[in-house]
Amino acid sequence: MHDGFASASDRAAYINGLPKAELHLHIEGSLEPELMFELAQRNGVTIPFASVEEVRAAYAFSNLQDFLDIYYQGMGVLHTEQDFHDLTAAYLARAHADAVRHVEIFFDPQGHTARGVAFGTVITGITRALDDAHARYGITSKLIMCFLRHLSEADAEATLDEALPYLGRIDGVGLDSSEVGHPPSKFTRVFTRARALGLKIVAHAGEEGPPAYVYEALDLLGVDRVDHGNRSLEDPALVARLATAGMTLTVCPLSNLKLCVVGDVADHPLKIMLDAGLRATVNSDDPSYFGGYVNANYLTVADALDLSKAELITLARNSFTGSFLDDAAKAKHLAAIAAYT
Ligand code: HPA
Ligand code: ZN
Repeated sequence: MHDGFASASDRAAYINGLPKAELHLHIEGSLEPELMFELAQRNGVTIPFASVEEVRAAYAFSNLQDFLDIYYQGMGVLHTEQDFHDLTAAYLARAHADAVRHVEIFFDPQGHTARGVAFGTVITGITRALDDAHARYGITSKLIMCFLRHLSEADAEATLDEALPYLGRIDGVGLDSSEVGHPPSKFTRVFTRARALGLKIVAHAGEEGPPAYVYEALDLLGVDRVDHGNRSLEDPALVARLATAGMTLTVCPLSNLKLCVVGDVADHPLKIMLDAGLRATVNSDDPSYFGGYVNANYLTVADALDLSKAELITLARNSFTGSFLDDAAKAKHLAAIAAYT
């Protein structure tokens, strides 16, 4: 029982202190209802909820779009540089408490510029909090700018233009929002330009969309990582290709549960992915909306799938190996995992 652990609570304690990286985190999805109310008040914005409890009660989703509707509404309280700083600082404090040593954070600039918030306001607030957290906790970070796939490629191109003065602080570009009907092929040109600028490339693919979207992310966008990727499992040739390439999948168990990508946590495919030789990682996606930060995600799947110590170590190692850190930094973190007992 509990291979490598005397009990489930021993395993939980082990997870809590295990050094890890988080590679799939939308900063706007870390907006807790308490901060949403505080920012609404600070900015004189009205929100259609009377209490924190009412907000939490609204977080019942039957698919990705249900969630996205409320996610875009929630981020409407973010206006000033200080707001983006406070949002990011709150996430980093939670990450630090979960023994996260490195984060690669998504942000959705189009969710803000469309409301009249300047691109510079967003990125300056976020990066100030990243710098503070590095000084305070030693957490390192990368920043990934996502394009909203329900908008046009021209809109994404304009966003990449706006990002040009800030490329010193942006490490990669990603693709998120409503997947089905908005395949990676819609964004081939803008990702080609981003790659030529030296940016890392990731894309959400195979969360709700078919395996064909994962192939497009690989072949047309040239992704360095696949975000989610769950539906790749429907195509054995794709699984073999991802495994052979050592492609990292940023898997998000509680997100999958809340958005009904899986019906029950016991049916979560994480163990199947590991057994197939896929470089799977565990991440929180939008922790405020999905009910837990990264350790809660590890704990939930560890209990449901009875993960062994060796499997947990593999997941933590994958989070650094699949990161955009340089080889020396990766080696340092892998050594810290080896030294952890
Ligand atoms: N999928 C797609 N878009 C998103 C997500 C997600 O899980 N979270 C925030 N934007
Ligand atoms: Zn996501």
